[in-house]
Amino acid sequence: MTMTKPDLLLVANLTPRVVDQLDQDFTLHRYCDAEDKAAFLAALPDGVRFIATGGGTGCSREIIEALPDLEIISSFGVGYDAVDVEAAKEHGVRVTNTPDVLNDCVAEVTLALMLALAHRVPDSHEYVRAGRWESEGAMPLTAELTGATVGIIGLGRIGKAIARLAQAFSMRIVYHGRSEQAHQPYQYYADPVSMARDVDWLVVIAPSTPQTRGIVSAEVLEALGSDGRLVNVARGDLVDEEALIDALSKGTIAGAALDVFAQEPHVPEALRTQENVVLLPHIGSATHKTRAAMGDLVVKNLRAHLRGEPVLTPVV
Ligand code: 8YV
Repeated sequence: MTMTKPDLLLVANLTPRVVDQLDQDFTLHRYCDAEDKAAFLAALPDGVRFIATGGGTGCSREIIEALPDLEIISSFGVGYDAVDVEAAKEHGVRVTNTPDVLNDCVAEVTLALMLALAHRVPDSHEYVRAGRWESEGAMPLTAELTGATVGIIGLGRIGKAIARLAQAFSMRIVYHGRSEQAHQPYQYYADPVSMARDVDWLVVIAPSTPQTRGIVSAEVLEALGSDGRLVNVARGDLVDEEALIDALSKGTIAGAALDVFAQEPHVPEALRTQENVVLLPHIGSATHKTRAAMGDLVVKNLRAHLRGEPVLTPVV
């Protein structure tokens, strides 16, 4: 006798590794490919209990409310700000994310951004490629990380991994977050403006919440000052992008290294044409190894729930 596989709504297209695994246990409904999303939802069979989605796409209230039997949303990514968690809670729907498995990768990319910005690695690379070394001589001197102070906004799991790597570069570490954490060797600042005033580097790695949106304000950037550099590996909406463009163009801050933007994949022209920036297309966790681990966790959460076992990494 063949058992029918339970229905799963694929809200975002995930990696082939994830989709192939899900296909073994679930009947996949590829909402991600549907042109008419509303018609696709309306035509689904009754009893859809499972959703898999991506951190960027998330899951809207509209989808949650269209599926009265929904039990779990398994999201690919540690940040779950694009999932309507309030709607999920109201309807008793469990939400899972993929924490921890990406900590080292995101920390590594953060240090890569800091090194690239300090030593002007992309500019220097272009300088050599364009033959300017030969025609114009040595590049101007640059900054370095050693001995500088880094202020981390969000000393969570990834923030701590960044702090450990920064220590290897003999940096002094301080942090800002919702509250002071016990047993941390780093100085705590309750106020991000005061911290920005005291640091050379400001690294943003907090989740996007109503409390953190816009936390890197014009005031924070002004406090960071003309020798200060901003790194954002969290979410674009934590930084006031207009204020950042203004600060960069006026030289109020020394530079910015960004992996995330307010309206991805759109990056404002004013940022793309700035000199003192390093820009990445949201690749903080984008390695084969880390994306495989994240994908496996998406699948494990869904399979655990399917078997009636506790999910591994619930956020709700
Ligand atoms: C992913 C991320 O790019 O985990 C996160 O929160 O931002 C990234 O690792 C993204 O979520 C993939 O959808």
